[in-house]
This record gives sequence, C-alpha cells and structure tokens, in this order.
Amino acid sequence: MGSEKKGWDYSQLRKYDISLEQIPRLDYQDPKVDELMAENEPVVITGSKLVKSAEKWNLDYLEKHMGNGDFTVFISRNYKFKYYDEKKILQKLPNNETNRGVEFTPPTKMVEMKLPEFIKRLKEWKRGDERLYLQQGLNDTVGPAIVRDFLKFDWDFCNSIQKKQNWGPLTSNHLLIGMEGNVTPCHYDEQQNLFAQVQGYKRCILFSPDQFDRLYPHPVYHPHDRQSMVDFERPDYSKFPKFKDIKGCETVMEPGDVLYIPIYWWHQVESLMRGDHTITINFWYKNGPTGPITYPLKSHHKVAVMRNVEKMLLEVLHDPKEIPPLMRALVLGRYTE
Ligand code: FUM
Ligand code: FE
Repeated sequence: MGSEKKGWDYSQLRKYDISLEQIPRLDYQDPKVDELMAENEPVVITGSKLVKSAEKWNLDYLEKHMGNGDFTVFISRNYKFKYYDEKKILQKLPNNETNRGVEFTPPTKMVEMKLPEFIKRLKEWKRGDERLYLQQGLNDTVGPAIVRDFLKFDWDFCNSIQKKQNWGPLTSNHLLIGMEGNVTPCHYDEQQNLFAQVQGYKRCILFSPDQFDRLYPHPVYHPHDRQSMVDFERPDYSKFPKFKDIKGCETVMEPGDVLYIPIYWWHQVESLMRGDHTITINFWYKNGPTGPITYPLKSHHKVAVMRNVEKMLLEVLHDPKEIPPLMRALVLGRYTE
C-alpha cells in the first residue's frame, strides 16, 4: 500500500492473513471512474468537493452547531461494532406472545446521547474504557450552520453519478464519528454507497459478492444477517475452511476521498489504530431498476436470489432448523455426483 503524502503508517493497520489488492484511486474527472462504477466495481474518487463544506467539522464545531437532537451511539467493550438487527431478536410482545426472533445477546449496547455528552466521553476516553461509535442519519434537528454546510455539499457531483449509474433515490446521509481503532466488521449492504471521508483515516477492506461462500454470512433470519461469521484476526479455519482462499481489495481513506462501495460488496471498515477519531458521511442510494437481465447472472444477482430463497423457505417452514435437511434432500445425490 503506498501514498506519498500519507498521514498514517503501516504499523497502524491490523495484521490479517488475507490476500488484498489496492482499490484504484482515480481523480473525479477520470472517465474510468464511470466505467468502474458501471461495472459495480469499487473505486476511490479523489479531488471531488462532495463534502468540502464539512472539512471544518471538528469536534468543537460539531458540538457548537449540531443541535440538541438525540444521536444513536453504539458502545462496545472491545474494538468491534458488529451490526445486529433488533427486529430479529426474540422479544416478548405486550400480549405475552413472542415475535419470530431468535435468542441473542447483542455484542454492543445501543444508546441515545446528546452530542456534547458523546464528545466529552470521546475526549476523556482512556485505553481500557468502553469504546463508542456514533452512527446517525442527518435529520432536521441539526443547527443552521450544519444545514448550510449540508446544502453546500457538491450535490451536482452525486446527482450526476446517480443519473449516470441509473440509481434510485438517495435514502439517507449517515454521519459516523468513531474512535481510533474502532472496527465495523465485514458485512454487505443492500444499497449503493458513496462513502465520503471527512476527518481522520479509515482502512476499508472490500470483497466482491462472488466471495460469498468464503465469507460465511450468518443466516438471513439471524440478527447478524448480512454479516460474516469469520473473525478476520482469528479465523476458525476448521469451521470456515474456504476463508483461506479469500481475495479482496483495500484502501486507506484520507479526508476528502470518496469510496464507491457497490451494492452487495462486502466491506470491513477500520479507523486506524493510534490515529485520531474519524468522521465519515455515507450517501446511501437505492439500486435502480435492473433492466434486462443477462446470463450468466452476475454474482450480486445470485446473492439476491439466495436471500429470497432463504426468506421463502423460512416463510413456509417456520423453523430454520428444517432448512438444512430440506436443502440436502433437494441437492445431495441429485445435483451432486
Ligand atoms: O464504520 C464504518 O464507517 C462503516 C461504514 C459502512 O458499513 O458503510
Ligand atoms: Fe456498510
């Protein structure tokens, strides 16, 4: 990995036994950006002014101008912030019935906090304390200075990408404020993402949807749906043998860089160790109409198909334990040699 003007060094990167290439870094005017995006390939777009107006968003500025709204903050006893879907956790309903969720102890706590409290805890944080990660959609509780900065984002830049790539509507702008060393473990999202780095350095490790079987995602019904079961630092090769062959790509995002994370691409995002806090703004877009399907299907289409098959089987069988024997009966000895 190389960068002449880099404000970080290799000792700040966690060590993994994974084969990783570099994601191309291209100027926003380079026509290859559009070509890569049209192929659903990741690219780091440099030199754009997408979030230039947020360059000044340091902690003091945000504390002064962010308003008095509540912010969702995740709290972790280690450095990992593995996402979970609360709706998939077994819950008692008011009428004493239960939902169709599974028993699950969340690995992080989700709390609501005012920004000044979050920033105070960030500034007073010492090694060994619980870690925090603020993750909140920008909404109308923000103060007027933030609204002005937001309106000054380079909307022409992202609107033109949206149009050229035939994406659906922008669904949210997510603000992420993380501590040095925080890790968002490997997962995929069902939306297109323009990931704009505002402050600090983040390492992004990406894998194509064709690496699905090497990453062992949790089942769809599980609260960790869309998350890999593999711990990159201590991969259990006896449970996840195909992870040995995993191939991906990576980059270290600098302030001003915009990373295109294609829909269904796996990504693990890490604020560099012993760096400063990090600030990112995500621009999430729905995928556009798929147009005429060509064969063989692309790997992201196959992931969508697998998700639908899994959901349909759960719907009809009710009990997830019934899925493996049914799938084995369907395939083994009939579609296998
Ligand atoms: O931690 C992160 O910045 C994660 C971003 C994402 O998953 O899109
Ligand atoms: Fe994500």
